[in-house]
Order: sequence, then C-alpha cells, then structure tokens
Amino acid sequence: MHYNHNIVLVGPMGAGKSTIGRLLATELGLPFFDSDREIETRSGANIPWIFDVEGEEGFRRRETQTIIELLQEEGPIVLATGGGAIMRPENRAAISQSSTVIYLHTTIEQQLQRTAKDKNRPLLQNDNPRMVLENLFAIRDPLYRETADLIIKTDRQAPKSVVRLITKKL
Ligand code: S3P
Repeated sequence: MHYNHNIVLVGPMGAGKSTIGRLLATELGLPFFDSDREIETRSGANIPWIFDVEGEEGFRRRETQTIIELLQEEGPIVLATGGGAIMRPENRAAISQSSTVIYLHTTIEQQLQRTAKDKNRPLLQNDNPRMVLENLFAIRDPLYRETADLIIKTDRQAPKSVVRLITKKL
C-alpha cells in the first residue's frame, strides 16, 4: 500500500506510538520520525536533561519547533509525537492541517506496564505515576479526540494487528 500524506500518531505515554509508527511507516513505504528522538538528536541532549536544565517549558518549545519543521520539510512521513504535544494549540493546528491524525488509545494499566522502570520520562519519576497518568488523561483525552481523524485502541492487540487495522481504515 502506498500513502502520500503525513500520518501523525498522538496519544499518551505507553500507547505504542513509536512501535506502531515504525511498523506503519514500513508498511506504507514512508520515512518514520519520533519527535522525542528528533528533539534529542537536534539538541544533543536527552529528554531528562532538557527537563532538568530548561524545564518543561523549554522542552515544549523544542517540541513545537521540531514537529512543525518535520511536517513542513520532510513530508510525507509517519510521525510519532510525545504524549504532551497535544496541549499546545499551535501543535494541534500544525498537525491537523497537514496530516491524517491517529489517536492511539490505551488503558492506564497498559500505560503503567509499558512505562514502568523507564527513566526517560521525567513526568513519571515520582511516587505516584498512576495518579499522574490519570490526571494527564483527564485533560488530554478530549484534545486527542478532537484532533484525531481516527481513534484506535491498542491495549488488547499486538502492534502488527493495530497496523493492519489502521491500513484498512486509511
Ligand atoms: C510526555 C511524553 C513523552 C515525552 C515527554 C513528555 C508527556 O513522550 O515527550 O516525556 O507530556 O506526556 P511519549 O508519549 O513518547 O512517552
């Protein structure tokens, strides 16, 4: 199958955006980008370091710039975005104008399983990651839904099946 339009994956930490995005890109013959990895490459620093030194605000500035540049300059691509990218109106505008947006939806349980022991997510380095994920979900789920063209549940299916489902619906 060949697809000639950007695809942007949105959804919370641990929804499978990077794994599914990479497989989907291969299936569609498009280049794959992950905004978090791209931010790290461009800044020469990892995400915890950026949060430590520049704060979340500094990270969000880099995130917006990276997402907008990737969509303008690289397309068509498959782009996995960080879970918080949906918060900024300029990010929502940039992705919905340029791309088919897919919301990968999952449960808090799955998110906890997939992110446990991962030191690379500063927002979860505290005593109660479950509460953090629940609070973020309450704020972000309506924004993911509002921005998405397609909503796909990822909690009960292997990444390959999710990709098959997406390509059928595109
Ligand atoms: C964040 C999600 C992370 C990363 C950063 C902040 C968030 O990306 O961008 O740690 O605000 O939910 P993933 O969704 O790829 O884990």
